Order: sequence, then structure tokens, then C-alpha cells
Amino acid sequence: MNKLGYIFLFFLASISCDSENKKIEQSIYGIGSFKKLELNPINDSIMRIGMETFKLKCASCHTMEYKNSGPDLSDLLARRQPEWVMNYLLNHQEMLEKDSITIRINQKFETNCVVNLTDENEAFAILEYVRMYQIWLHEFNAK
Ligand code: HEC
Repeated sequence: MNKLGYIFLFFLASISCDSENKKIEQSIYGIGSFKKLELNPINDSIMRIGMETFKLKCASCHTMEYKNSGPDLSDLLARRQPEWVMNYLLNHQEMLEKDSITIRINQKFETNCVVNLTDENEAFAILEYVRMYQIWLHEFNAK
């Protein structure tokens, strides 16, 4: 085999090793530091911070009413665990590579979710807003 052939073989071997490292994990809590979250009754002032942050950083792609370029998040917590949401927001890259649910949603949409939150409090405030929205939605539907 010539030199190029060896280089090609090495290339193939490194690709297969790489895919072994990216083991897909299936957990309703996702991957990250949030394993168990104790949720208290919704804190109104934190929820309002979450609402403002959502308008600023998320609403260009997500609405609470209908599908935009990103999915509707009004009933997010009907389909995802709060721990999963926190891991999704704060450990996005790893979730995108290894979390089975994140990979599946990502395949359904043409664009990617752009979340670059690093502040745990900010992510939690968004979670509070999503929790509150879920209640508003149920109240509205109960009318
Ligand atoms: C540039 C557009 C864009 C922005 C900005 C954006 N997202 Fe997304 N988001 C998407 C798209 C597209 C998807 C679905 C595809 C994917 O997973 O990448 C998604 C998926 C999600 C999901 C998963 C939904 C589900 O059904 O499980 C959550 C949660 C989410 N985004 C929250 C947020 C939050 C919170 C922010 C703001 C901090 C945000 N996103 C900002 C486009 C965006």
C-alpha cells in the first residue's frame, strides 16, 4: 500500500474511534449537573426576570403560541422534565452530541437552538417562566 493509502486507513480508524466516544445516552433528565431539582412554588419576581430574558434571548425563534423557527415552548414541561430543561440550557453542546431526545428534536428542525446561557440563575428564571406559562395555559383552556 502506498503512503496515501495508509493515511486514508488512519483517517477511517480515527472516525470510527470518534463515533465510539460519542455514546448516546437515554435519560429523561438529560446530561449535565442537574440530576434532581427540588421545585418550590413559583417565585413571581424570578419568573418575571425569566419572562424578560426569554423576550430578549429566545423569542426571536420561540413563541409560546405557535411554532416559529423553533418549537412552541408553552407546554414544554408537559413533555420534558425540569432537570432536562436546565441541562439543555446550560450544557447544550454535550446534550446535542449525546442526549437521545436533544438529537431527535434537532433532526426535526432545519436550524439549531442557539442557547449560550452560562448563568444558572438566568436558566432557572426561564424555567420559572415556562412553569408559570404552563399554568396560564391550563387556566385559559379551563375557561
Ligand atoms: C436562533 C433560533 C433560536 C434561539 C435564539 C433559541 N432557540 Fe431554542 N430551539 C431552536 C430550534 C430550531 C430548536 C429545535 C431544534 C434544535 O433542537 O436545535 C430549539 C429547541 C429548543 C428546546 C427544546 C424543545 C423541546 O421540544 O424539547 C428548548 C427547551 C429551547 N429551544 C429553549 C430555548 C431557550 C430558553 C432559548 C433562549 C435562552 C432559546 N431556545 C433560544 C431555535 C432557537
